[in-house]
Amino acid sequence: IADISSDYGQVKAINISHRGASGHAPEHTLHAYELGNVMKGDYIEIDLQMTKDGELIALHDETIDRTTGKKGLVKNLTLKELKKLDAGSWFNEAFPEKKSTEYMGLQIPTLREVLDRFGPDSKFFIETKSPEVYPGMEEKLINILNEYNLIGAHQTFGNVIIQSFSIESLRKVHQMDESIPLVQLLSYYAPAVITDSEVSKILEYAVGVGLHYTAVSPGYIQKVTDSGLMIFPYTVNEKDDMKMLLDWGVTGMFTNYPDRLDEVIQSR
Ligand code: G3P
Ligand code: CA
Repeated sequence: IADISSDYGQVKAINISHRGASGHAPEHTLHAYELGNVMKGDYIEIDLQMTKDGELIALHDETIDRTTGKKGLVKNLTLKELKKLDAGSWFNEAFPEKKSTEYMGLQIPTLREVLDRFGPDSKFFIETKSPEVYPGMEEKLINILNEYNLIGAHQTFGNVIIQSFSIESLRKVHQMDESIPLVQLLSYYAPAVITDSEVSKILEYAVGVGLHYTAVSPGYIQKVTDSGLMIFPYTVNEKDDMKMLLDWGVTGMFTNYPDRLDEVIQSR
């Protein structure tokens, strides 16, 4: 496996701005993504949903309820309807100590808008969310990434990484373009354990795994990395946890505070 961290001589861990610098600004807004880059995140993490009229947008939830003050399923709303929503003001209400008038009225961005603004100078860690709800989302994603010239054999390996909890979604992407590095997200309700056969299956299509940081142990990390898979725990916001995970040998991690992770990495 070509190692994505080879860019850094395998010295520097990979800093992924989770939903942008979402500890500081409203998640999945261009503002949060910009801040992630300013705060030295290596990757912008994008969760994808698909509108009723087939546009890929950056939003974590299948509904608009949590982050717009309105109610509804993304799959039942057109892009035009979604574009009228205020995806920033909820943050001011939830985190008054971090509020800013700049966040009021921020729009939900489309994937194209994110790439127009940040590609090709940024790196993207893109998640296909609820792919079973959005038939064809993988094809649309690959088409857009090709259109923006962000994937393909001529591209630097790892500028775009695609992640999903769905094995089917990742296998679909792998079938369409084997050159895209894929990360299998895993859910554990207890300390994580992985068998040799599970590792072998993942290695058929993916280059890494992602899992909740509280589930990982040194033994798990060792087993996964010995097999050649990278490992990206999520979502790590406290410096002590960041330090511990780096000591244990993770490849990188998702954080709402890329500034904190950068400080931890720089101080080592
Ligand atoms: O993609 C890694 C992590 O973001 C998965 O959890 O729910 O924040 O998308 P979630
Ligand atoms: Ca995600």
